[in-house]
Amino acid sequence: MKKVLFASSEIHPLIKTGGLADVCGSLPPALQTLGVDVRLIMPNYQALKTTEEIYYKSTIQVNNIDAHILETRLPETDVVVWLVHCPQFFDLPGNPYVDEKGNAWLNNAERFALFSRVVVEIAMNRGYLDWMPDVVHCNDWQTGLVPALLSLEKDRPKTVFTIHNLAYQGLFPKQIRLELNLPAALWHVNGLEFNGFLSFIKGGLVYADQITTVSQTYAAEIQTAEFGYGLEGLLSYRQAQLCGILNGIDTDYWNPATDPVITAHYDQLTLPNKSLNKAALQGQVGLPVLKQVPVFALISRLVEQKGIDLILECLPEMLLLPVQFVLLGSGDKIFQQKLLDFAVLYPEKMAVTIGYNEDLAHQIEAGADIFLMPSRFEPCGLNQLYSQQYGTVPIVRKTGGLADSVCDTLPETLKNNTATGFSFNEATPGALMEAIKRSLIVFSDSVVWAQLQINGMQIDYSWRKSAGDYLALYDKI
Ligand code: ADP
Ligand code: GLC
Repeated sequence: MKKVLFASSEIHPLIKTGGLADVCGSLPPALQTLGVDVRLIMPNYQALKTTEEIYYKSTIQVNNIDAHILETRLPETDVVVWLVHCPQFFDLPGNPYVDEKGNAWLNNAERFALFSRVVVEIAMNRGYLDWMPDVVHCNDWQTGLVPALLSLEKDRPKTVFTIHNLAYQGLFPKQIRLELNLPAALWHVNGLEFNGFLSFIKGGLVYADQITTVSQTYAAEIQTAEFGYGLEGLLSYRQAQLCGILNGIDTDYWNPATDPVITAHYDQLTLPNKSLNKAALQGQVGLPVLKQVPVFALISRLVEQKGIDLILECLPEMLLLPVQFVLLGSGDKIFQQKLLDFAVLYPEKMAVTIGYNEDLAHQIEAGADIFLMPSRFEPCGLNQLYSQQYGTVPIVRKTGGLADSVCDTLPETLKNNTATGFSFNEATPGALMEAIKRSLIVFSDSVVWAQLQINGMQIDYSWRKSAGDYLALYDKI
């Protein structure tokens, strides 16, 4: 049985700030179903939530700091999770990356270097857990030092590094490497150094045996200057070890036929029931309950990546049309305020909820007609997949995983029933507005619209295929 240690800074439902958690909470159980002995490892944050029991396993010292290893299970599965308990770093209010006020933790380098060192000790079977993996699968910059440090070990497991978002690199002033006691052998321009900074993500990109990212299009995009943030040369150099594997989703948790937090269950055969969720949503967010008016939705971190500026520029024109818009998100304070201002100006048309609300996210997916994702870049994106499963037609910018998972509505794709949404190329308000108008024309024909919904609902976005691709990759290395 293949043994895989899977390391991440966030795992749903224990803690989540974005799609990374969804993937790290759903891919490992899918790997287990395929016969992999997979164990998860993450920091033991104060905000971590679980219904499962937690046991003490062992204590190790890394870089003169005590770290305790606790063991629990991923809720509703029997996948083992090891929690790295180091109170001075993780037992604090806030989320994995920022404090209660939203400011990045000042010691993020120390926090995730400690986490990475503990992963290395367990990977080398020095954590008193009597288990050594064949493969260590790391995710994003927070685990980037793992492949780098492991590269210096003899008889080590193989390493896979998955890029969920190249925009976040873990860059720190170079002096920090001394405090972190990083081996001098790793400090050079072909190692952890990047333009005079210490780069955590380069630890993964340079030293991992295999690099993956979360869609094929993003795998190609990050080898170009437009998407590569200066790392495109390195990624092209490593292209033989780089591939894209599209994310799957948890089709039990995101399933309109069983979702416990939505008003009415539905599937392809009972699609008209979706309108009960629409009415419930309109009532809940304080918009007039109007059946015929299309409800647009957006659920997102409110950051530049997500094209929020494009939405803001479209809103004056969009809100003159017979539409409603329900938005849930949090992030950039300026975006938040501008969106709230629009909601005040158009109380009958736009409802904005600032904050993080998992139940409302499900209710919006169930109640909305059209989902907006005009991302400037999108490694994979999950909401366009959830939307398709919920019969909520996505409008996306044709980039990254959005390009790989939404088929634009054209005469020929309507005819052969492959159309699942609307996509546009240019990151401009004009191009977004045109896609919105195209969607409204199709929406006005309820028969064609229902076919579009069903086309998306029929697609299997479960992990079945992609988990198999990861397994094949583990076998290869
Ligand atoms: P990213 O990881 O870049 O944020 P993804 O589309 O991969 O983008 O995943 C985002 C995940 O976070 C989805 O599960 C989405 O529903 C969720 N999400 C984002 N913002 C919120 C919010 N304000 N409330 C609830 N869920 C949210
Ligand atoms: C990142 C990306 C998103 C992706 C998610 C999970 O946060 O921004 O596109 O879906 O990771 O892989």
